Amino acid sequence: MIFVVDFGGQTAHLISRRIKELGVETEMVSPEDAYEKAKKENPKGLIFSGGPSSVYEKGAPTIDKRIFDLGIPILGICYGLQLAAHLLGGKVISGKKEYGPSSLEIGNWKLEITKDLPKSFVVWMSHGDEVIALPKGFKVLGSTEHVPFAFVEDPERKIIGLQFHPEVEHTQHGLQLLKNFVDLCIIGDDSNIRGKIKNQKSKIKSTIQNSKIGNINVKEIEKEIKEIVGRSYVIGAVSGGVDSTVAGVLTAKAIRNRFIPIFVDNGLMRRGTLEHVKNIFTQHADSNPIVVNVVGETLYRLKGITDSEEKRKIIGNFYIEIFEKEMKKLLAKKLSVRHLLQGTIYSDVIESQGTKHSAKIKSHHNVGGLPKNMRLKLLEPLRFFYKDEVKLIGRKIGLPEEFIEKQPFPGPGYAVRIRGEVTKERLLMEKMADEIVLEELKKAKLLDKVFLSFPVLTGAFSTAVKGDGRNFGEVVAVRIIESQDVMTANWAKLPYGVLQRISSRIVNEVPNVSRVVYDITTKPPATMEWE
Ligand code: XMP
Repeated sequence: MIFVVDFGGQTAHLISRRIKELGVETEMVSPEDAYEKAKKENPKGLIFSGGPSSVYEKGAPTIDKRIFDLGIPILGICYGLQLAAHLLGGKVISGKKEYGPSSLEIGNWKLEITKDLPKSFVVWMSHGDEVIALPKGFKVLGSTEHVPFAFVEDPERKIIGLQFHPEVEHTQHGLQLLKNFVDLCIIGDDSNIRGKIKNQKSKIKSTIQNSKIGNINVKEIEKEIKEIVGRSYVIGAVSGGVDSTVAGVLTAKAIRNRFIPIFVDNGLMRRGTLEHVKNIFTQHADSNPIVVNVVGETLYRLKGITDSEEKRKIIGNFYIEIFEKEMKKLLAKKLSVRHLLQGTIYSDVIESQGTKHSAKIKSHHNVGGLPKNMRLKLLEPLRFFYKDEVKLIGRKIGLPEEFIEKQPFPGPGYAVRIRGEVTKERLLMEKMADEIVLEELKKAKLLDKVFLSFPVLTGAFSTAVKGDGRNFGEVVAVRIIESQDVMTANWAKLPYGVLQRISSRIVNEVPNVSRVVYDITTKPPATMEWE
C-alpha cells in the first residue's frame, strides 16, 4: 500500500491510477489525516501530490512535519516537493511560471531512483512556484533550463522530489520513474509483495479503486448499477459521445428495458449525431431513444449570452427541465423513474469540482451546472474512470472500434466553440468549418490519429482581401490535439499541406471568415476547449 496525499492537484488521482497500473495498491489521504494514518497503518510509501496553492500562502494545505521522521519513503511531486522543501528548511519562491513540456537533464547517476532513465528526456511542468534552496541532506539529480532543482533526493531519508509530473502521459519515462520509486519503497521489505497484491474489484461508488486499466470488471459495474437502481426506471441523457453511450449501453445491459435513453436534439451537435445515436442504441442496447427536438428554443435561450459558464448553465438547466418533463410523462404511465444517467467521467469531475484542496477549472455542464433542486438522482457509472478506461469498457461491451475511437464532443456542443453569442448564422459558420476540418483530416488519413479536432469562432475580427475587395471577417482558430486520458494534451504536428488545405477551404467556403490560425498550445496550460 502506498498513500497518495491529495494537496488538490488536478492529477492527484492520476498518480494513484499509475501506481495501481504498476500493481501496487494505493489510498488517497488528506494532508490533515496523513501523519496519524501513516503512523498507524505504516504504508510502504507516501506520495505528496501537486496542488494549486503556494506554500507560503495563508491557509495553504500543509502536513505534520513528523511525517518525515516515520522512515517511510516519500515522493513529492510539484507542490508536494515545494512543501517538503519548505517544511524541512529549504526556500520556495514564486518563480518563473512554466506549463507544458521541458527537457530534463539528469547526467550519469546510477541510483535506484534513476534506473533505466535516459540522460535527458521530456517532462511536463505545471507550476508557478519553485524551490530555490534545498534543505540539508538533499542533492540534485536533474535540472531543466529554468528549474535547477527539478529532480532531487535526500538519500538518507529516502525523500524524492520532482518539480514536473511523472504521472501525465506526455512526460517521457514517467511510469519508469514511478516504478523506481515503488521499487525503492518495497526493497528490503517483503520482496513477494507484488504477488500478494490482490486484484481490485471495480467499485463505481467508492474511490477510483477500479481504475487499474486492463482489469476492469464490466459485470461488477453492471451489478452495482442494478443495486443502485433497484426496481425503478432510469432515463438517460445520450449525446452520441463515447462516454454517454458506454454509460447507456452498460445500464441497458444491467436493467434492460427499464433504461430509457433520451436524445435532446438542440442543434448544437455534429451533423448525423441523431441517426448515429439511434443506430447504436437499437443495435447494442435493444432500445430506441426518445428524441426531443429543442433546436429553436435552445437558440432562443442562448440569445445575448456571451459568458461560457452561463452558456453551460443554461444548456444544463434546459436539459434538466426536459428530463423532468419526460419523467412526468413516464410517471403518468406508472413507470417509477428515479435516476438520470449521465456519462460523467473522472476528468470532468476533477476539472469541475475536484477535491478538498483543488481549484475549479470549468463546470462541465454535467457536473457543475445542474440545478440544486433537481428531483432526479444522478446515476454516473463512469464517474471514476478516465477516458482511456471508458474506451476499454466500450470495447469490452462490444461497441464497434470506429465508434470507440470517435472524437469526444463536449456536452454543450458547438456553444462552447463559439466565443461570444451563439447566433443562427455563427452556428452555421462553426458547423461548416468543423465539417471542413473533419473532411480534410479524413482525406489525409489522419482522423483516427488525433484525439480531437475543431474550429473555434474566436470573436476576433481581421481584414482580408477577397476578390480585390476589403472584407472584415472573423478569425477562426483550429485546434487539433493528441491525448489519451484528457489530463494533458499536445497539439498535433500536422503536415503543412493539410493545414494549408484546411485554412484555404475555411476562408473560401465559410462566409464572413477572414483568417485561420492554428492553436499550438499544450494542455496545460490551455484546456482543450477554448471556453
Ligand atoms: P477541456 O477543455 O476541459 O476538455 O480540457 C477536456 C474534455 O472535456 C470536454 N469538455 C466538455 N464536456 N461538457 C462536457 O460534457 C463541457 O462543458 C465540456 N467542456 C469540455 C472536451 O471536449 C474534452 O474532451
